[in-house]
Amino acid sequence: MNEVLINKTIEKAKETFKNEYSGHDFWHTLRVYNIAKAIAKNEKCDMEIVCLAALLHDFDDAKITNSTTELENATRWLNENHYQQKRIDWIKEIINSISFKGVDTKTPKTIEGKIVQDADRLDALGAMGIARAFAYGGSKGREMWNPNEPYIDNMNEEEYRKNNGNTINHFYEKLLKLKDMMNTDTAKKIAEHRHDYMEKFLEEFYGEWNGEK
Ligand code: ADP
Ligand code: NI
Repeated sequence: MNEVLINKTIEKAKETFKNEYSGHDFWHTLRVYNIAKAIAKNEKCDMEIVCLAALLHDFDDAKITNSTTELENATRWLNENHYQQKRIDWIKEIINSISFKGVDTKTPKTIEGKIVQDADRLDALGAMGIARAFAYGGSKGREMWNPNEPYIDNMNEEEYRKNNGNTINHFYEKLLKLKDMMNTDTAKKIAEHRHDYMEKFLEEFYGEWNGEK
């Protein structure tokens, strides 16, 4: 395992996300990296690929940078560090297959990809998921909730990307679906707990909104 490259990539992530306030900051990347490592310990997999894919997974996210599926930032970084071409392609394939795209969501082909997808999804759940959703909504100028605006079910990729509804709706459009989409048993267990916590939060939210609590 190339610890030097991994530590350098952690430093690079710090710099890459230094002006990011939409819930995709450096700390999100670091949490995904740590959760991915924890899941990977229970699976037979290439740990170095898991670590690098987790650290690089948002370097080219369209919501943060204006990159393409060519993943220019991640690719440039790995090339600069003389990483093997075959392994760069493997990491790129993972990054391109992990994102949530409504009904167009993919499952990564490799176990390494499945692990990173689970880790990224776990950070969208629980207390962290709630905090990130409101940080994202605020950064995009969206309402917390609007009871007159119904959520939209089963969006495809384009509809999901274009949608700029309120943040509570995002729970129904994405966050509450994730529990049943986890790939590994380790992530399924953690997701159950985080899912229940979000359900309780929503109950409290509506109670306080309606003056019943
Ligand atoms: P992925 O990481 O699978 O590409 P997204 O980037 O769409 O998924 O979402 C990452 C996180 O950003 C979500 O889990 C959520 O916390 C936040 N987010 C994305 N879209 C919205 C939205 N419309 N409203 C609130 N939060 C959002
Ligand atoms: Ni992410």
